[in-house]
Amino acid sequence: MEKIKSLADLTNLRKQLQEKAVQNTNTIVNVSLGTCSIASGGQTALDVMKAAVAKNGLGSVEFTQSGCMCYCFAEPTVEVKIPGKEPVVFGYVDAAKAEAIVEKYIKNGELLEGVIPVNYQRA
Ligand code: FES
Repeated sequence: MEKIKSLADLTNLRKQLQEKAVQNTNTIVNVSLGTCSIASGGQTALDVMKAAVAKNGLGSVEFTQSGCMCYCFAEPTVEVKIPGKEPVVFGYVDAAKAEAIVEKYIKNGELLEGVIPVNYQRA
């Protein structure tokens, strides 16, 4: 990766990544693994979701990890971005809910209880 030396470099990189994201046809699952999430079982949520994706043969799912998404009260939290839909953030994701997110929302598009209203805008 090139070194970013100016605001223009950063702006260009942002534009490239946004264009790449628009072209991405995979479902993106981001698991918050900040301190608050790790303490609440975030790693278990990630592991269960990865296993459920494999079990269901869902090849077009990418996993990412992030720091705290500032929903500490509802950790572990998981954001799911299905192509063509707005991102959805699920809270209090224990092992059972992690599996349900994969088997109901990702696989069949059925929303579950526990969606956290989005209170931020991604740039
Ligand atoms: S870990 Fe600091 S706000 Fe969640």
